[in-house]
Amino acid sequence: MGFDYANRLKMLPPYLFAEIEEKVEKKRKEGMDIIDLGIGDPDLPTPQPILDCIKKELQDPDNHRYPSSAGEADTRRAIAQWYKRRFNVNVDPNGEVAILIGSKEGLANICRAFVNPGEKVLVPDPAYPVYAQGAALLTDAVPLRFPLLAEKGFLPEMDSMPTDARMIYLNYPNNPTGAVCDEDFLLQAHRWCNETNTIFCYDNAYSEMTFDDYVAPSAIKVGHNDGIIEFCSLSKTFNMTGYRMGYAVGDANLIAGLKKVKSQIDSGAPKFLQKAMSMALGEYKGAERPQMVQDNINVYQERRDVLVRGLRKLGFKVDPPKATFYLWLKVDGPSLKFAEDLLGAGIVVTPGIGFGKGGEGYVRMATTQTSERIEEALERMAKVL
Ligand SMILES: Cc1ncc(COP(=O)(O)O)c(C=O)c1O
Repeated sequence: MGFDYANRLKMLPPYLFAEIEEKVEKKRKEGMDIIDLGIGDPDLPTPQPILDCIKKELQDPDNHRYPSSAGEADTRRAIAQWYKRRFNVNVDPNGEVAILIGSKEGLANICRAFVNPGEKVLVPDPAYPVYAQGAALLTDAVPLRFPLLAEKGFLPEMDSMPTDARMIYLNYPNNPTGAVCDEDFLLQAHRWCNETNTIFCYDNAYSEMTFDDYVAPSAIKVGHNDGIIEFCSLSKTFNMTGYRMGYAVGDANLIAGLKKVKSQIDSGAPKFLQKAMSMALGEYKGAERPQMVQDNINVYQERRDVLVRGLRKLGFKVDPPKATFYLWLKVDGPSLKFAEDLLGAGIVVTPGIGFGKGGEGYVRMATTQTSERIEEALERMAKVL
């Protein structure tokens, strides 16, 4: 019948990634061998002990029933214990933890819970598209973009930010730039949020995907859980993007609002997956990564080094990112054109413009292919460029 979309849906910009996916599919159908460095989706399998735990939990009929919308008490406790071990911060599992169906929905729903139509939401540029679109625009709020610049290490200058926004999103380790921050930056950001009465949403989805000697901090620790909500995810840490498991930790008031929205929309994450989440987080015996996570990180670090070495040989100036499996590559000319040229050679990269105007002039490469395939992509690039 062709009903018109609601205005808020019409306001969303075209989803660039869907368009790219279509072009890639077309090339695949034409028989082209595609090396996909586009999507941030781990190619490595979920660690076996987690799979075993899921298999076992699936046999228990109690796990076939509705979960509690507040999240299972044991899993909330496991999350609080993880925060204590990993960041040495005390979190109340009853009031300060929410279990999410992937951190993406939490990042979007927190905006519904606390931002009124027409209010402003500060969003980095470039950024993971959910903050501006799934969160702000679909709440009828106004996303205000602030720049992340290479010369500033992709960290914003808090003091030059508009002070009349309701909420701000910050994300380090950062998608798409791979940039990281230290505790001092988080302290400064928290102070600014308190002074300006801005809700601090911190996306820490890549906290465990770090390299060399860098260890990612927690905004909750720095800000004593005051006016802050932090989002974490099992997706990248344990190669579990398809399971949709994440959690939020934070100020009890912010967590309560988020849970209130969620209780009206979803009925919680499946119990057998919540139990697997408890088991996976329980693998952390201290602040250090357990072997199952470290094994992954070793693979991504090696691939990162292969990619950086190869790109340097091709004449690009690149520094190895200290975190995430992304490499944010400065290119000549428009990012879409660069990405299309590479697609012609069967290589998928994400044009920076898909992350906001501030991403123009860059493409994002994800090391979600084996080192051999990355080497092959580099050889193909040498021919095209
Ligand atoms: C910065 C960032 N935050 C959050 C997410 C969402 O992760 P998930 O919903 O799988 O937990 C992603 C996924 O790519 C991301 O890049």
